[in-house]
Amino acid sequence: MVVLGIETSCDETSAAVVSGSGDHAEQRSLVILSQDVHRIFGGVVPEIASRAHVTAIVPVVEQALREAGTRLTDVDVVAVTNAPGLVGALLVGVSYAKGLAFGAGKPVIGVHHMEGHLFAQSLEHPDAVPPFTALLVSGGHTLLVDVPAWDDYRVLGATRDDAAGEAFDKVAKLLGLPYPGGRHIERLSREGDPSRFRFARPMLRRNQQPGDDDYYDVSFSGLKTAVLHAVRDSADLERDAAHIARGFQDALIETLAGKVRRAAEQHDRRRVVLGGGVACNQALVNEVEARLADLGAEVYAPSVRLATDNAAMIARAGLFHAERGRRDDWSLNAYASLPLGSRDGGWRKGDGG
Ligand code: KG4
Ligand code: ZN
Repeated sequence: MVVLGIETSCDETSAAVVSGSGDHAEQRSLVILSQDVHRIFGGVVPEIASRAHVTAIVPVVEQALREAGTRLTDVDVVAVTNAPGLVGALLVGVSYAKGLAFGAGKPVIGVHHMEGHLFAQSLEHPDAVPPFTALLVSGGHTLLVDVPAWDDYRVLGATRDDAAGEAFDKVAKLLGLPYPGGRHIERLSREGDPSRFRFARPMLRRNQQPGDDDYYDVSFSGLKTAVLHAVRDSADLERDAAHIARGFQDALIETLAGKVRRAAEQHDRRRVVLGGGVACNQALVNEVEARLADLGAEVYAPSVRLATDNAAMIARAGLFHAERGRRDDWSLNAYASLPLGSRDGGWRKGDGG
């Protein structure tokens, strides 16, 4: 089966071709066009993102087909992210995917963006398949998920306020670093002394029990405020910036790694899959590995292109659903938010599309 994937949920216009069957999927092409324009504004401007997708979508899809050596007639299914994300941005991808598929006489399948992130690692590691514990950390989401099988997603915890990437970006801004700031914080942290600024580890009390509602959840707004105070109280920010960055990053990754450890232990998982832009952070990956070492768990972290938003993961998830006969109809819509595991109301199993 050959799947064309399209992703436009935020500020990346991406298309990819994935082919194969079952868990033997091959990425045949992946094109990602990042919208650098948002750097000027220090964050993604939704209307600008939508317009940029409109400009880029046709050449990006054509390039993905060309690089894969595939013609549209060889494609079996078009898979497109239809939730969650910026609704105007999503609509560009969904409308284009539907038009392209309809014109070519192919079916279309809507894919949940976070389900795509769960599948990303399986394109690089044949063992990154369920059952596993997943930590998805990006600019918009922080989700801890138990995945006993594909299509069976049990969300254990989430952030109560800022997403992990958002916390990185806001702290980077406080320290005068460029947007998006995650990788700048990571780089600066390497020069920081971990003992100079020790911030409290949020939502990581030792006496928490599995039934407690904060056992798996995270919260980063208090940490962000603590950093703000440290920045304000610093007599020499140039001298302290690296130490503050280090203190912040240590607190955040220890919290995340602690929650992953709880999830893997409680559900007896031996595999942990990371995803989302913050999974590019090597200190996070190392910390998760260290916290899970005694459980004998394997940690799978994607390469940068597959950790951040991309269409290969959407095509991969689409392949899974297509093989099970799922087809969406032409009423497929875009949704700003949709819980992981639920679908657009337009879909019925066995529906011919
Ligand atoms: O998944 P992604 O590309 O886009 C979405 O938000 O969906 O994630 C982007 C986020 C940004 O907040 C960025 O600062 C963060 O991922 N990020 C990092 C690193 N690289 C990217 N955060 C920490 N360390 C990094 N090395
Ligand atoms: Zn994402």
